[in-house]
Amino acid sequence: MKRVVTYGTFDLLHYGHINLLQRAKQLGDYLIVCLSTDKFNKEEKNKNTYFSYDERKRLLEAIRYVDLVVPEESWEQKETDIDLYHIDVFVIGDDWEGKFDFLKDKCQVVYLPRTEEISTSRIKNDLSLKSGVILQ
Ligand code: CTP
Repeated sequence: MKRVVTYGTFDLLHYGHINLLQRAKQLGDYLIVCLSTDKFNKEEKNKNTYFSYDERKRLLEAIRYVDLVVPEESWEQKETDIDLYHIDVFVIGDDWEGKFDFLKDKCQVVYLPRTEEISTSRIKNDLSLKSGVILQ
């Protein structure tokens, strides 16, 4: 069984996320999503999510391409995760191109092209422009 892992926040789940998860699953048989916790988002990624970790996790678990959702709590855990979950392929959007090449010693590393013109920040921005409310 070929095991694939990906990382992210996946707030306000959108079709860019679905495209990423679908293509990630196609690279193997079993897809694990390491989902950034609320603390990790706040303290390390400077992101204040609209949906909580548990809400984002439930949404991801309802997607047919996703087999397992586990917490992402640090930048450094990737190498341990790859060993722990016997990962064959690490996959992430190409906004991270080159950033995880150091994992190539351990598994295959794939950067997938992002879906154009959609992102969580853009949704928040567009909605705040419409409503006059600033969402972080
Ligand atoms: N992603 C993608 N295409 C998009 C948006 C995201 O392929 N249009 C991918 C990212 O490259 C990443 C994963 O989805 O591998 C999770 O991205 P995340 O940062 O959670 O979503 P964004 O919409 O990029 O959020 P933000 O605007 O807050 O950065």
